[in-house]
Amino acid sequence: MENYVIILAAYLLGSIPSALWIGKLFYGTDVRQHGSGNMGATNTFRVLGKKAGIVVTLLDIFKGTAAVLLPLLPFFHDTAIHPLILGVVAVLGHIFPIFAGLRGGKAVATSGGVLLGFNWPIFLLVVITFLIALKLTKMVSLTSIIVSVLGPLYCLIYYFMGGDLYLFLVVALMGFFIFYRHRDNISRIKNGTEPKVKWL
Ligand code: G3P
Repeated sequence: MENYVIILAAYLLGSIPSALWIGKLFYGTDVRQHGSGNMGATNTFRVLGKKAGIVVTLLDIFKGTAAVLLPLLPFFHDTAIHPLILGVVAVLGHIFPIFAGLRGGKAVATSGGVLLGFNWPIFLLVVITFLIALKLTKMVSLTSIIVSVLGPLYCLIYYFMGGDLYLFLVVALMGFFIFYRHRDNISRIKNGTEPKVKWL
């Protein structure tokens, strides 16, 4: 199988606009018209409630994990593409989805999914960090920004312990994407208008 086919598959996976489709299909609501306007899990929680939020979180995580695991499929077995490259492509698909006018989400859950597919212990550490930071800050955006810095740091430490340099480089790149996609949130955090989660 040609390499571009698996790259295309990873991009299409990442492009699945879970928040948009779940909102439109089951709630008749376009999440882009409400809340922060972001097509992501946090805004789905905010606009459509817990059930939809959990489903979108899981689907967005799944997109990243599935992309990393694509080479396990028999017809992609001989691919020369590194699984983490497929993960980054899926994250780019999530940010620039072909199925939603190239205007996608902020890459948090899908990046998490990539980490889950490649190194679940570090994923677990990142999830624990996320939960602690969320409890302290009560802002998903600020929590995501904190994790976008600590995730690469964990991978760097892991590298010095004999781990994969590639993992650090890819997680640092995904961290950069997350940071960059939160520019509006950073402005709101600075001027004190960023919404906090109420259920914590
Ligand atoms: O995962 C995105 C989250 O960090 C921020 O989402 O909707 O509050 O901009 P939102």
